[in-house]
Amino acid sequence: MIYDPPAIYGIIGNPVNHSLSPLLHNAAFKALKVNAVYKLFPLEDLQELKLFMEDLKEENNPIFGLNVTVPYKEDVLPFLDSVDPLADKIGAVNTLVIDHARKIRGFNTDGPGFLSHLTELGFNPQDKRIAILGAGGTTRAIVSVLCLMPHKPERICLYNRTRSHAEHLIKELGQKMDIGCVHIVDEPEDLNIELADLLINTTNVGMKPQDPLLIDTKALHKEMLVYDVIYSPRETKLLAQARQRGAQTANGLGMLFFQGVLAFRHWSDGVELNDRIKEIMRKSLEN
Ligand SMILES: NC(=O)c1ccc[n+]([C@@H]2O[C@H](COP(=O)([O-])OP(=O)(O)OC[C@H]3O[C@@H](n4cnc5c(N)ncnc54)[C@H](OP(=O)(O)O)[C@@H]3O)[C@@H](O)[C@H]2O)c1
Repeated sequence: MIYDPPAIYGIIGNPVNHSLSPLLHNAAFKALKVNAVYKLFPLEDLQELKLFMEDLKEENNPIFGLNVTVPYKEDVLPFLDSVDPLADKIGAVNTLVIDHARKIRGFNTDGPGFLSHLTELGFNPQDKRIAILGAGGTTRAIVSVLCLMPHKPERICLYNRTRSHAEHLIKELGQKMDIGCVHIVDEPEDLNIELADLLINTTNVGMKPQDPLLIDTKALHKEMLVYDVIYSPRETKLLAQARQRGAQTANGLGMLFFQGVLAFRHWSDGVELNDRIKEIMRKSLEN
C-alpha cells in the first residue's frame, strides 16, 4: 500500500489549546472525504514564530493553510509573500494560504466573518450608533470592516481600559481608511449605550465567572443588539443581563463559524462550501 500523507492545516498562536478551529475544519475535511488534518501549533515566542515561518517555505513542508491567532496576527506580516488588500488595510492577518511553490499569502477573515454574522442576525450597520468595548486585535478587524462599508454607521464610540491603545489603533487605521465616524471615549458611561443600536464587547472580560461587568447594565435596552465576541462561555454575564433587559443577543460562535468558512474558501482556491458541509461545521462548534 502506498502511504499518502495528509495535507496539514492548523492554527498558530499562544495559547491555542482552547481553539475550536480543529473541530470546525476537521469536521469539514471528514465530510468532504479530503485527506487533510487540522492541527494546533502553539508557538512560545517570536523566535519560534520566525523558525516556524522559515520552515513553512521549505519544499517538503506539508502545511498548506493556517489560521493565526493572538498574539501573532500582526507579527506574521513580514514573513508573507503577499497580503490581500483588505488584510493590508486592517493591518493584521488571521488566515495564511501556502501554495505549491511555498509562497505565503495572508488574508483577514475576522472582519468579514463578523459582518456575515451581523447579516445573519438581520442587523444592518448603516447609519447605526455602535458602541465598542476594547481596542485589541478584534476591534481592529471589526472597526475596519465597518469603516470600509460603502454606507457607514452613523457613529462608532470606542472605550478601552488603556486609552492610549485605542488612540494608537485609530491613528493607524486612519492612515488607511476614513475613520471619521469613530470617537474614543474616556469612560464606559460616555459610550451612550442608552442610545446605541449595537454594543460589541471585544475584550476578554467575561470569559471567567468572576469577571466584572464593564458597563452599567441599566443602559441596555430592548431596541439594541448586544454582541459579545466571546464564545466560551456561550452566555457571558453581559449577554445574560442584556437578554434579561430584552435586548437581542449574540455570542462569538457565529463570527468564529463565518471566519472559518471564509478561511476554508481561501484554502480551496475560492470554492464555496455547500450548505450541508456548512451545517456540519456549525454543528461541530455548537455541540
Ligand atoms: N468570535 C470570534 O471569532 C473571535 C475572533 C477573535 C477573537 N475573539 C475573542 O475576542 C477576545 C479578544 O481578542 P483580541 O484578539 O482582540 O485580544 P487582544 O488584542 O489581546 O485585546 C484584548 C482587549 O481586551 C481588553 N482587556 C483585557 N483585559 C481587560 C480587563 N481586565 N479589563 C478591561 N479590558 C480588558 C484589552 O484592553 P487593554 O488595551 O487595556 O489591554 C484589549 O482592548 C478574546 O476573548 C478572543 O477569544 C473571538
